[in-house]
Amino acid sequence: MPTNYEATSLRDYLCASVNSAMVGNRLSVCGWVAKRREHGEHLAFLDLRDRSGVLQAVVEGSVEVRPEFVVRVTGTVTPRPEGTVNDRLATGEVELTDCRVEVLAIAESPPFQLDDRVDIDEQVRLRYRYLDLRRENMQANLRLRAKVNATLRAAMDEQGFCEVETPLLWAPTPEGAREFVVPSRLHPGEFYVLPQSPQIAKQLLMVGGFDRYYQIARCLRDEDLRADRQFEFTQLDLEASFVTQDDVLGFVSRAVLDAAQAATGVRPGPVPSMTWAEALDRYGTDKPDLRFGMVLQDLSSAFAATEVKAFGASTVKAMRVPGGASFTRSRLDQLTDHAKELGAKGLAWFKITPDGLDSPLARFLSASETAAVRGVDEAEVGDIIFCVADEYAPACKVLGTLRVALGSPPVGEGPHHYVWVTEFPMFEGIDEEGHLMAAHHPFTMPHPEDLELIETDPLRVRSQAYDLVLNGWELGSGSVRIHRADIQSRIFSALGITDEEAESRFGFLLGAFKYGAPPHAGFAFGIDRLVAIFAGVENIREVIAYPKTQSGADLMTGAPKAIGERQLRELRIKIPPKG
Ligand code: AMO
Repeated sequence: MPTNYEATSLRDYLCASVNSAMVGNRLSVCGWVAKRREHGEHLAFLDLRDRSGVLQAVVEGSVEVRPEFVVRVTGTVTPRPEGTVNDRLATGEVELTDCRVEVLAIAESPPFQLDDRVDIDEQVRLRYRYLDLRRENMQANLRLRAKVNATLRAAMDEQGFCEVETPLLWAPTPEGAREFVVPSRLHPGEFYVLPQSPQIAKQLLMVGGFDRYYQIARCLRDEDLRADRQFEFTQLDLEASFVTQDDVLGFVSRAVLDAAQAATGVRPGPVPSMTWAEALDRYGTDKPDLRFGMVLQDLSSAFAATEVKAFGASTVKAMRVPGGASFTRSRLDQLTDHAKELGAKGLAWFKITPDGLDSPLARFLSASETAAVRGVDEAEVGDIIFCVADEYAPACKVLGTLRVALGSPPVGEGPHHYVWVTEFPMFEGIDEEGHLMAAHHPFTMPHPEDLELIETDPLRVRSQAYDLVLNGWELGSGSVRIHRADIQSRIFSALGITDEEAESRFGFLLGAFKYGAPPHAGFAFGIDRLVAIFAGVENIREVIAYPKTQSGADLMTGAPKAIGERQLRELRIKIPPKG
């Protein structure tokens, strides 16, 4: 007999483990009363719920239990009478009879029904999260998360990575979001910073000779919350020495595909990759959703000599929306407004009809321009073609955003399409002070072929940074790091980071690099996002036990909260009066 790990001093089995092979056995289960149905005066049916599921107990005589009472029921496993078998329940063929019910705790009636079939206001769910967690969906989501974590750990262990815990009370990290700060009691007026990621700590581990590190790491960022963003989130964070980009892509792919297999039962094929430039060109974004087509087309050369003013730009990008000829005028006006909000001068559209192109612009196009539009992406009658004329990058981005708005299914729906996006640009533009801004973080190694461009044509410098994208969500990012002081100082000066600033922000890292830094590279991906997609939910709050609301509140504990005068005094913090 295999060991029965479910058994405790109070129970023999989990509810859902009780089955027809146990008929005749007398056993105990523990759990909550999910439902109570009376059958006459002296017979009641109790649905008992524990984390595994539900089991029916038939109770004779009077028992004082109501829904959500915590009980221990000892009874005999009995086949259900003919006609009462419940196919929807794992335990639907049996019930416990001849029951003895012990009340372990009484309960008030809960503020909402703990039933997944009912839609409950999320504010109420979060206020009573401990009750919400009893529901089947939340049980399944958090268990899925635990399984994913266990699988990731195993994958990293098997690949020779060593798990190291890094501090939560730390100094600023280079991720670029606003930081949460923690006042120091022993050093009044001084602060710790909660890490946005273990970035610097893990690079120091490379100097420390841990040539394959990983951690399931809590990260904290004080940024605006969205469906895929919380203040606190969890990364699978890793770093390795004596490796190239391809090695890292291999380590991460292995871990993610193992997790996908554990979560969904199906192992996805190898993860394809495309360069950042290709992603922008074809999908108008660095987070391409490959679950559907509507790939952007370039009509620039067809419109190079155009007389149509609206198309007089360096780039004309086009996109076919299958079936889009049915869009009403007001829908098209809405989409045009949306494009304008995104910075486009306008949005041209052409419905494909049996009689040719239907559009206010159609009569202005030359024959060759008409043919180019008609031929976009093998368009058929009933489709619509959208065009944006602008500089190259904005034209791609506007159409890319419309592509997602018109074509993307909800993130957790349908097949899972992973893709690596590589060769990100090193710099992503110029800030108000005229300095270049790092696209990843300032320790990212430039592409070896572009080193010469750092000073001469920096916006063309590609980096050795890469992202993993799943269904249009950025799952994670990483890079090969700079381990040579000469390249690092060229990058700092391009970013306008002075020697003094570099010394004060990252001095300990740069200092450590003087003592022998191996070439290294790493990656981190968001476990919340990965599990949300596996669970088929739209918001990472559904896979986090105690998330914050959109406005950053914890409705259950009431955090953030004022603290007492004594504590403030100890920390030497003065709160100015309001107003
Ligand atoms: P990055 O900042 O891109 O990289 O973060 C990596 C991944 O972490 C997840 N993530 C978040 N998830 C939920 N809520 C948030 N607020 C949030 N912010 C980030 C995303 C993201 O892709 N140190 C680098 C990695 C490296 O270079 O090794 C880093 O943290 O899934």
